Amino acid sequence: MPVVLDGTAIAAQIQQEVALSVAALAARGVRPGLAVILVGHVPASEIYVRSKVKTCEELGIHSELITPPESITTEEMLALVDSLNQRDQIDGILIQLPLPAHVDTKRLLDAVLPEKDVDGFHPVNAGRLQSGRPSLAPCTPAGVIEILQRSAIPISGAHAVVVGRSDIVGKPAAALLLNHNATVTLCHSKTRDLATLTRQADILVAAIGRPGFITPEMVRHGATLIDVGINRVTTRADFDRFFAGDAKREEAFTRRGSVIVGDIHPHAFAVSRAYTPVPGGVGKLTIAMLMANTVQAARLRRGL
Ligand code: GUN
Repeated sequence: MPVVLDGTAIAAQIQQEVALSVAALAARGVRPGLAVILVGHVPASEIYVRSKVKTCEELGIHSELITPPESITTEEMLALVDSLNQRDQIDGILIQLPLPAHVDTKRLLDAVLPEKDVDGFHPVNAGRLQSGRPSLAPCTPAGVIEILQRSAIPISGAHAVVVGRSDIVGKPAAALLLNHNATVTLCHSKTRDLATLTRQADILVAAIGRPGFITPEMVRHGATLIDVGINRVTTRADFDRFFAGDAKREEAFTRRGSVIVGDIHPHAFAVSRAYTPVPGGVGKLTIAMLMANTVQAARLRRGL
């Protein structure tokens, strides 16, 4: 039977450690502070951001939620970021993505001071990560590493195959795995003969944003499966394709009209050695690592 890698439990453990670090900083008169900018009303973003602010409160981290209207311009956003860059009380600045189409996202991410870039999206932090220097690493990929390490799944020497090349997950996940001495293959939508590559994976990371894309035939027996995808299933045909016979999900689907599936087909988990469930896997780590990055930024900025 495959082992279920419990993201909820691992995230709770990391958050406990962060709370201890916050207490140690408090003894030195330092309280880490996070500013979160949420533009407009994207329902998924509102849920994520609420959860980020709530977790700050639970761990003793100062947080500020700034909610400009959808009509805000790039220039106004730049002025806002600049004011947060200058405030000593703020250690971390997070601009929740996606931003409205009229706002220049890259220009804004570049405007955040690298030492306050708790998302790890600034090119300076991306470069530091690529070149194996200490850096604020993007939260979701950093969470993938924590899951593997805390579950005693060897990374060094393993063949890690990452499917998806986004700047937020795929690319930094590949860099982190390489820095931990995995042999890394980074695949994407134009990769030829993808299944031949995924079948070679000891660790398969799926971050492509396509429901159930990785099928059982694409997985080697005994591989570890890390599913970064969060996709909503709303049609009966898709539900049956992924979850036919799953009574618990059937009940949820009937009640809510949708259920969540990852980028890995649930049938693929059966052939694995270990896997992260969706929900309750990698997703739980993103906020925990954001908290950890905020505390790290607070320490580093003060030379502690
Ligand atoms: N939107 C979805 N995931 C993320 C994330 O990790 N950080 C930010 N800033 N926005 C996101």
